[in-house]
Amino acid sequence: MGAAFRLLLVPLMVVAFCTYDVGGRSHYHKKPPPSRHRGGGGGGGKGGGDSGSVVSSPAVPPVDDDTQPPPTGTVPSDPATSEPCVFDVRAYGAVGDGSTDDTRAFREAWRAACDADSAVILVPSDGTFTITTTTFSGPCKPGLVFQVDGVLMPPDGPECWPPSDNRRQWLVFSNLDGLTLRGAGTIEGNGENWWNLPCKPHRGPNGSTLRGPCDSPTLVRFFMSRNLAVEGLRVENSPEFHFRFDGCSDVRVDGLFISSPANSPNTDGIHVENTERVAIYNSRISNGDDCISIGTGSYDVDIQNVTCGPGHGISIGSLGVHNSQACVSNVTVRNAVIRNSDNGVRIKTWQGGMGSVSGISFDTVVMENVRNCIIIDQYYCMDKRCMNQSTAVHVTDVSYANIRGSYDVRSAPIHFACSDTVPCTNITMAEVELLPFSGELVDDPFCWSAYGLQQTPTIPPITCLQEGIPDSLLDNPDLKCR
Ligand SMILES: *[C@@H]1O[C@H](CO)[C@@H](O)[C@H](O)[C@H]1NC(C)=O
Ligand SMILES: *[C@@H]1O[C@H](CO)[C@@H](O)[C@H](O)[C@H]1NC(C)=O
Ligand SMILES: *[C@@H]1O[C@H](CO)[C@@H](O)[C@H](O)[C@H]1NC(C)=O
Ligand SMILES: *[C@@H]1O[C@H](CO)[C@@H](O)[C@H](O)[C@H]1NC(C)=O
Ligand SMILES: *[C@@H]1O[C@H](CO)[C@@H](O)[C@H](O)[C@H]1NC(C)=O
Repeated sequence: MGAAFRLLLVPLMVVAFCTYDVGGRSHYHKKPPPSRHRGGGGGGGKGGGDSGSVVSSPAVPPVDDDTQPPPTGTVPSDPATSEPCVFDVRAYGAVGDGSTDDTRAFREAWRAACDADSAVILVPSDGTFTITTTTFSGPCKPGLVFQVDGVLMPPDGPECWPPSDNRRQWLVFSNLDGLTLRGAGTIEGNGENWWNLPCKPHRGPNGSTLRGPCDSPTLVRFFMSRNLAVEGLRVENSPEFHFRFDGCSDVRVDGLFISSPANSPNTDGIHVENTERVAIYNSRISNGDDCISIGTGSYDVDIQNVTCGPGHGISIGSLGVHNSQACVSNVTVRNAVIRNSDNGVRIKTWQGGMGSVSGISFDTVVMENVRNCIIIDQYYCMDKRCMNQSTAVHVTDVSYANIRGSYDVRSAPIHFACSDTVPCTNITMAEVELLPFSGELVDDPFCWSAYGLQQTPTIPPITCLQEGIPDSLLDNPDLKCR
């Protein structure tokens, strides 16, 4: 009983430091205030009215738990409200020795920070913290920062995964407006034992692939949230996707370093779907699947200064599976480097879909030893047994400009395999120059059912782009998106 009481007290003490201490305990006040979100309100202590309380009275606890500290009562006015209030997970009982399960401490730190303005949840640099599958959900007070300066990781592999935990995801941030995830630390996925499950491609006995459930967790998922920033972290060895954004808007990713082995299955770097206004900048990604993958419902995606490889390149799709409607528009990739990858910039759709991929710009991409540097594949199929169908997701308004470098001669560097019934239209190419990394020129790019124009002659030359727009596409309601 005494111990339980102490557990309750710890968060209270932290709250107290944050509330009453205006400068003395500098270790609770980190140097620079957290970077503000674009569009995120709350400049700096404006609006005298409620600016007094650093900690809001925790009215309704956001979740189930009954260990929520009781309300702290009225808080005196404090002019230092713009100082971030730091919630160190250690102060909530996290041990950080690399083996103790610190989940409970993280949940309590989250709960307390969520209720405070401009709070920083700190994962300190001198620890390795293990937590199990956790959903950090909002709504929370504005300006919340989740700062990982140490190492944060899940249990090591499926064997250690608590049976009751979701195997499809690990860290989930949900229903938030204005969260920053950042830090100088590492999110370590401990993915190896997941990659080697016998159900993974060729990981069964004698290189076979066994059947059976194969769920593996996405490392960090953002769900139904907006005004998100993810900055500066190192994220590695995810069991499956490293990051997934779905149902989000106004996302900014900057300065990430994502790393997994080239042969780690399904370890996409950043996956985006049903999400709009996304910026992915200044990041390096090497892994065993797509560097960045963009799924249906993604709009206004801006990718700049990203270095990919090894991996499977930057990919829009796959789209239109099971005859579904898919819509993606306004995606820009600028100043990218792609090396030692199975694809460069790719658009892939299944036979039989509806909708469209439109307004796509690949501008200034350096390729280094890449197979399929430029590829549109409207015959995407996992098991090679897909039938051709009479509908497809329309691919249109795609521009390739200043794409240079070297290709792996095992595949044609330019490959347009467009649908017979729904050809690709308005493909423009300017300053595309691709040469063999080593070996003989492939001077036979693959090009099928594609319309568009070359503004400058490409190297290798392509001669198949047709002029105009085929009649079959005019006023086809199946191809309309919003
Ligand atoms: C694996 O291959 C070896 C040699 O071909 C064979 O002796 C062994 O039975 C195979 N094991 C399984 C589990 O199939
Ligand atoms: C395309 O997306 C960018 C952000 O990536 C945005 O600034 C721009 O307004 C969008 N363009 C259109 C036509 O929607
Ligand atoms: C891309 O990199 C250049 C050169 O380092 C830099 O000037 C520019 O600001 C970067 N772009 C973004 C969006 O960060
Ligand atoms: C589908 O259509 C393409 C292009 O016409 C053709 O090359 C391919 O053989 C067809 N596939 C099947 C399974 O019919
Ligand atoms: C072709 O696509 C470009 C963008 O790549 C766009 O600016 C242009 O308007 C499109 N042309 C037509 C005729 O739709």
